[in-house]
Amino acid sequence: MYLERLPNTSIIIPFHNEGWTSLLRTIHSIINRTPGSLIAEIILVDDFSERDWWKSTS
Ligand SMILES: *[C@@H]1O[C@H](CO)[C@@H](O)[C@H](O)[C@H]1NC(C)=O
Repeated sequence: MYLERLPNTSIIIPFHNEGWTSLLRTIHSIINRTPGSLIAEIILVDDFSERDWWKSTS
């Protein structure tokens, strides 16, 4: 059972050395499966990924 009116929410995704395609798939999946009114924001937190990772993800 769900409340009829759910509050919106912030979605926080911490990642470390994650590939862009995986991150994008995750974000797409959230957006596709969640009613827009429930998503206030999606925050990506880069948890100290190594610099080389950024170079390899263009
Ligand atoms: C999220 O809910 C708050 C409280 O109801 C509201 O003030 C805010 O505008 C909502 N944010 C979005 C993006 O819908």
